[in-house]
Amino acid sequence: MSKDTSPRPAKPKQTSVDVSEAQIAVHWPEEDYVSPPSPFIAQANLADPGIFQRFALDKFPESYKEFADLLDWYKYWDTTFDASNPPFWRWFVGGRINACHNCVDRHLARHKNKTAIHFVPEPESEAVQHLTYQELFVRVNEFAALLREHCGLKAGDRVTLHMPMVAELPLTMLACARLGVIHSQVFSGFSGKACADRIVDSESRLLITMDAYHRAGKLLDHKEKADTAALEAANAGHAVEKVLIWQRYPGKHSSPTPLVQGRDLVVNDLLPKFRGQRVEPVPMPAEAPLFLMYTSGTTGKPKGCQHSIGGYLAYVTWTSKNIQDIHPEDVYWCMADIGWITGHSYIVYGPLALAASSVVYEGVPNHPDAGRPWRIAEALDVNIFHTSPTAIRALRRDGPDEPAKYHYRFKHMTTVGEPIEPAVWKWYYNMVGKGQAVIVDTWWQTENGGFLCSTVPALHKMKPGSAGPGIPGIHPVIYDDEGKELAMGSGKAGNICIRNPWPGAFQTIWKDPDRYVRQYYKRYCRDPKSRDWRDWPYFAGDGAVQAADGYYRILGRIDDVINVAGHRLGTKEIESAALLVADVVEAAVVPVADEIKGKVPDLYVALKPGLAPSAAIGDKISASVVSEIGAIARPRRVIIVPDMPKTRSGKIMRRVLAAISNRQDPGDVSTLANPEVVEKIKSLAG
Ligand code: WT7
Repeated sequence: MSKDTSPRPAKPKQTSVDVSEAQIAVHWPEEDYVSPPSPFIAQANLADPGIFQRFALDKFPESYKEFADLLDWYKYWDTTFDASNPPFWRWFVGGRINACHNCVDRHLARHKNKTAIHFVPEPESEAVQHLTYQELFVRVNEFAALLREHCGLKAGDRVTLHMPMVAELPLTMLACARLGVIHSQVFSGFSGKACADRIVDSESRLLITMDAYHRAGKLLDHKEKADTAALEAANAGHAVEKVLIWQRYPGKHSSPTPLVQGRDLVVNDLLPKFRGQRVEPVPMPAEAPLFLMYTSGTTGKPKGCQHSIGGYLAYVTWTSKNIQDIHPEDVYWCMADIGWITGHSYIVYGPLALAASSVVYEGVPNHPDAGRPWRIAEALDVNIFHTSPTAIRALRRDGPDEPAKYHYRFKHMTTVGEPIEPAVWKWYYNMVGKGQAVIVDTWWQTENGGFLCSTVPALHKMKPGSAGPGIPGIHPVIYDDEGKELAMGSGKAGNICIRNPWPGAFQTIWKDPDRYVRQYYKRYCRDPKSRDWRDWPYFAGDGAVQAADGYYRILGRIDDVINVAGHRLGTKEIESAALLVADVVEAAVVPVADEIKGKVPDLYVALKPGLAPSAAIGDKISASVVSEIGAIARPRRVIIVPDMPKTRSGKIMRRVLAAISNRQDPGDVSTLANPEVVEKIKSLAG
């Protein structure tokens, strides 16, 4: 391994592609390979090198039968893949399946006394709760009965969940899945307003939430967000009929916010009526939607990625088994939040479909100190660990020597969500993994359902800072702006695309099929009339380079999206929130490199003529962003400028602002309509 482990400052790389203004690519030198430990290889689910042949492009689509065969089907499908209406691909057509049955019922025969979910409360004084598959089965049935009998829910209805990281969240998702109800879980850190937008778009009549939860040492009032959500939805013309409230402490209301008579229902009060009830899982068409997951894009409006039951579940199950190497006897901990796609695929559906024990941790990783995750790992004997570079950086900063103090042993570790610096990778490998765990750096997106690029842990060597090749069945390609393929090892950056469809891919954007086509398939489509999937590569929106060994290194978003701590925020969403403040006439958000979170947003604003800049206005703008989106989007700084740097056609030059925020040279600004403003902004932002 090379000796220099210091992270390089962000430096724009020379690319053949015109990277967007908002992009500042991370770049570091190529690293040497690290071999997977042999004890890992000896026990791995996937150690047969024949896999690559089996999933070669000429074996598509029948190769994916192997994915679906990991599941129980009520009715086997007739057509593996239907491409008759590109790019609206259909998988396992004619099949009937239920996701809840596959994650719960089918394990009872052999694993009913095994823990399905270890719920770890944030307060260390509170006992860990271990929910067996049998208990999960009973509770999911009772709650499904409540949803069906008391709330009148049926297959195809949408329900919005705004739940924290508690065992009741997967339980609620599975109860919905049992009925064929489409769940849309909104990250609990998002504001009531953000939740309302998603309720309205999905037309959910029901909101399911929890009264309170622990985070960073505080018991947060979460119920108040439900009131805001219902109010904002009503303002937008959509009525939330019922709000179902789980109690963080059953039998006790833990929120200072009172119940709304006639609308709010306390789940824990109603449940006794459904004790012992059983609800048969509804055999659903393989292509029926399982859930919506909203994510940020280039417009101010988040898009609801619609994921299928059959294709999605097959995909996350196969990748959990073969890339995460999950065996039923493993204790698996993914420290993501279930409010993001990572949690859906790799805390809930993938691990539970494989009858593993999955850890759900309520709080923040470094609370009360940076030893916490390793105490949890030791106590529960976790052997597979999964987290983001942001969390690894924070744990390394706060407790570089902590892992050595605890007696856990990981066989496998994942990193996901952002590029990981080699120095951070090495700390993860040596300290967290104690040099005994294989690491996979998995690249994918909310739209994709599961991993796209990663090494196969027992078959490939690891290379710090590189995600790896496409996983078996995924055939990536890098195109330049003209649609020319960039050769392996060319050293040139371009737009990473996937040549072939795959079962985990989202089916459409909820209620916006045009945007789905426009944003993901139009860019490199060779013929819009073609019904040949080969003419419809999937455009991911990430810049990437491929090394001579076939490994991809992901450089970051090429669109107006900022990846903060591994979570996507649309610059337009933040700008719209700022513009809600009456004093603001223009707003521009740029990403700034951050040692821990990867990127954070800086918000530049121009005020109405005659208004004097003040700290109070800055605070008001910041508060507006937090209440519209959530604390995760809070700008690092609000910089009030006399004018935005603009092109002659009046376009705000975000690239110039990004350079200033990142203390880089903004380059030639002489072609701007107002070049003189650049120096003024520099002094304000300096
Ligand atoms: C964006 C997707 C999918 C799980 C979490 C994020 C970036 C994701 C990696 C990685 C470098 C990565 C990309 C992608 N990204 N994984 N291993 N290395 N970058 O999901 O919120 O949909 O964000 O995250 O830029 O497009 P998401």
